[in-house]
Amino acid sequence: MKPTNSPKTYRVKSFGCQMNVYDGERMAELLGEQGIVPAPEGEEADLVVLNTCHIREKAAEKVYSDIGRLTKAGRKVGKEPLIAVAGCVAQAEGEEIMARSPAVSMVVGPQAYHRLPEMLEKAVKGERATDTDMPAIAKFAALPARKKRFPTAFLTVQEGCDKFCTYCVVPYTRGAEISRPFADLVDEALRLADQGVREITLLGQNVNAWSGSNAEGDEIGLDGLIRELAKIPELQRIRYTTSHPNDFYNGLVRCHAEVYKLMPYLHLPVQSGSDRVLKAMNRSHTAESYLRLLEEVRAARPDIALSGDFIVGFPGETEAEFEETLALVEEVKYAQAFSFKYSPRPGTPAATMDGQIPREVMDERLQRLQAALNRHQLAFNEASVGKTCEVLVERKGKLPGQWLGKSPWLQSVWFEGECEIGDMVEVELVEAGPNSLAGKLRETVAA
Ligand code: SAH
Ligand code: SF4
Ligand code: F3S
Repeated sequence: MKPTNSPKTYRVKSFGCQMNVYDGERMAELLGEQGIVPAPEGEEADLVVLNTCHIREKAAEKVYSDIGRLTKAGRKVGKEPLIAVAGCVAQAEGEEIMARSPAVSMVVGPQAYHRLPEMLEKAVKGERATDTDMPAIAKFAALPARKKRFPTAFLTVQEGCDKFCTYCVVPYTRGAEISRPFADLVDEALRLADQGVREITLLGQNVNAWSGSNAEGDEIGLDGLIRELAKIPELQRIRYTTSHPNDFYNGLVRCHAEVYKLMPYLHLPVQSGSDRVLKAMNRSHTAESYLRLLEEVRAARPDIALSGDFIVGFPGETEAEFEETLALVEEVKYAQAFSFKYSPRPGTPAATMDGQIPREVMDERLQRLQAALNRHQLAFNEASVGKTCEVLVERKGKLPGQWLGKSPWLQSVWFEGECEIGDMVEVELVEAGPNSLAGKLRETVAA
């Protein structure tokens, strides 16, 4: 590659889960430290970071088409951006990307992005660089302090996964489970609160597997961490995601009953309602054990909004097994859910299993599942009408005087009136749609 000028502007595009978004923000902060600024809206950036996701096939395809778009004719000669591919596709297919896309000058995995500045220095000299090492915790120590200015923020507390569900790439792209140290997390949360953050979502691939020792040196779990963060006065709301049913213990259930700042929302993926399929997925919970767990959580926090993930068309899934998933959905009545067609991922055990399901069958099952999930989501929203709740104002709406925020149950709520971003306001929910609710402003609770 030819040497080039140091970039003055950057753009980070994140394609994946919430942790991928968090990583994107931290890379932006890192580039900011180098004196590079975000490219103004609508303008081309000198440096583009494609922060990729590998969980399903379309995600990887999108990266290649994005690279194509960034390098296609039409851009002024000599004005091509420096391209860095980061995230989970970078981890899984770094060498292939380097070989297939000469326009890419940096490939950096999700555990190595703190080294982006050194790689950039090389790229400017015309040298291409790949870094997909997995030093885990070292990354966080090497990152600059948070600069987030928004009422809500993600905070990665745990990374990696040891569960090896047979369909999933995450254990290969994110590595083994690690927990960030307690003191670092309290520090980052305090800093975020100081910048105006009012709601923190604790992130981990298996966030409830977090463990650490507190200031007194006692071993604590995620419940202990939540109780500690709840003591930060400016932080008004705490959420966490994603939990695994196997690591869900009593202490966390109790937290939902006892910690006022912990929001009544639980995302607990189940994937399937069939025990045979769950076993083939290596999920190590059954439909029954999952339902029992939800019962306990509901007993602790009766108004809790439940959410889940589902995969249809896992290899060998029969019509009767799929119907067991539908039956589970009818029983739980989720407030929200995410459902996907099974996507064979290279290198995972399920990709080579017998009984791969034809696309038409998957399409049809996904449609039926989503019809049921949407029905329950609308019903949950309709049941909220008439309630008055606190809403954290996140942004302006499309119309003048209109605002958008989130209810405690993570519903989007629209309303009109006098307030500001970051306010916690009291809103009466008056009308429900499938994806949001209309509300009436009552009063501001706290600034
Ligand atoms: N750690 C979390 C989330 C993992 S990825 C958990 O265990 O729940 C988010 C979701 O993507 C998964 O819950 C699963 O529903 C879906 N997913 C993962 N791999 C997939 C694949 N190969 N095909 C289709 N969906 C997949
Ligand atoms: Fe993937 Fe399973 Fe780990 Fe979740 S628990 S990240 S689905 S391997
Ligand atoms: Fe995607 Fe990696 Fe997240 S594969 S879902 S960006 S952990």
